[in-house]
Amino acid sequence: LREDGVSEADLVAEARRALTWHYQWAVLFDFLPATIGEERTRKLLQDGPRFFQPDGTVSIPFEFADAAYRFGHSQMRGAYRVQRGGADLTLFPDLIGFRPVTSDRVIDWSLLFDVAGEPAAARSRPIDGCLAEPLLKLPVDITGELDDQDFQSLAVRDLQRGVATGLPSGEAVARLVGEEPLLRDEVGLSEFGWSGETPLWYYLLKEAEVREGGERLGPVGSLIVGEVLLAILDGDPESFRSVDRSWRPTLPSRDPDRFGLADLLVPFEPPIDG
Ligand code: HEM
Repeated sequence: LREDGVSEADLVAEARRALTWHYQWAVLFDFLPATIGEERTRKLLQDGPRFFQPDGTVSIPFEFADAAYRFGHSQMRGAYRVQRGGADLTLFPDLIGFRPVTSDRVIDWSLLFDVAGEPAAARSRPIDGCLAEPLLKLPVDITGELDDQDFQSLAVRDLQRGVATGLPSGEAVARLVGEEPLLRDEVGLSEFGWSGETPLWYYLLKEAEVREGGERLGPVGSLIVGEVLLAILDGDPESFRSVDRSWRPTLPSRDPDRFGLADLLVPFEPPIDG
């Protein structure tokens, strides 16, 4: 930025803006295609949100915070390797957080994001109706003291939250947005004696599993996640979408047509032109 002539007085504000805009770009053009699919992302950016069109200040809807965006709970693995040649570290207690990061816990992001020229990064768990075992027994450092030990389970917490906020069933949302709801056999809860419609959080996990092989969210989950993320960016007067839609990333990217999260996280020397 100094080389571009930014004054010392504006340096921090400019660095913040540049980083934020690059991150926003990576969310829209790297994270979103991976999470909801290339074609759905393209259509969303072309046509805009069909259902989530807030006026003025954007609030995050309950369907997003208490169901759809919790899809990541299913993607978590029980253990991660964070350094080349290092050991596999368990989520708990090894990676619990809430403490200074020791040198053997500093993450080599090329193990978690695909980077050209490096071995393929570790994959997340598929998005499906299961959670890695450690998430079913959260440590007290995360939950605090509990009266009811069932709340050690992140699945119980996610489901309970949906009940507490009165979320509609997955089938109800599917019908509302014009998608064919999953069949009872596809949801698979009847064998456990469940006869009602499906809690939204669990429905969206099963939708990803049944309709997309666990590779990405299905149609209803994609609609909620995609429309809310886009609306948040468009509702932010400081986002690159609001300030200058013709803006393009200025930091170097490994693929010249595609700036992504790995370009932000894993430093590299761009080739010198000419
Ligand atoms: C080791 C990894 C993770 C742990 C231990 C964890 C744990 C938790 C816990 C304990 C809650 C509060 C649950 C409740 O009582 O309602 C929560 C909420 C949530 N989590 Fe996670 N989570 C993890 C990863 C993720 C990922 C990868 C995503 C998304 C990609 C995610 C999305 C959310 C969302 C959207 C909420 C609701 C936040 C709110 O409304 O305030 N989590 N998580």
